[in-house]
Amino acid sequence: MSDGLRLSAKTRAEIERLTTVYPVRRSALLPGLRLAQREIGWLPREAMDEVAEIVGVDPNACYALATFYDLFYREPVGKYVIGVCEGLACHLGGSGRVLGWLKERLGIGPGETTADGLFTVRTFECLAACDRAPCALVNDEYVGPLDEARLDELLRELRSHPNWSRVSGVGGRGSGASIPDPQYPTPDPRHSTTDTRHPAPGEGRS
Ligand code: FES
Repeated sequence: MSDGLRLSAKTRAEIERLTTVYPVRRSALLPGLRLAQREIGWLPREAMDEVAEIVGVDPNACYALATFYDLFYREPVGKYVIGVCEGLACHLGGSGRVLGWLKERLGIGPGETTADGLFTVRTFECLAACDRAPCALVNDEYVGPLDEARLDELLRELRSHPNWSRVSGVGGRGSGASIPDPQYPTPDPRHSTTDTRHPAPGEGRS
């Protein structure tokens, strides 16, 4: 297990494996960062440096990628990150009210984390689930449409289930309404950059 900043041997090995999956080694950078964040909970600079070292790229490439994507956290976050959508449909549907209810219940606004480390509230632009407006992304799961009663139910569930994302409940969870786990392909030997075989007679290298 990692000490919170260093990656575990298992994660390092998985990132290393990913570098053999893509035609270009550096393509493993994005899924590698995702694996690092999954283990640590956010992306400290030490973790980004480790991913860069394993993939074999300049650490600045890691920092650039991590700052581009909203779902990479560069500072500690709570166990549950509640990302309220503030896109047009959700704004018109009441995202401001959702943020107000969260402020009342949790005492925090966007960008803040509760003192017990359980919740972080953030805002996002359109989450591409406008039919659920007003909606939110809780870790990797969509919830919505949210009203006051559903939000209270959600907070109750989050507080009482140690593995909340595995339970069904508010807002269509359990019906595939989540960001799927990445399914990484297996290596294609035709594209492997580590293929050291000698070609058989008549076999060309692509
Ligand atoms: S505006 Fe909120 S999901 Fe599109």
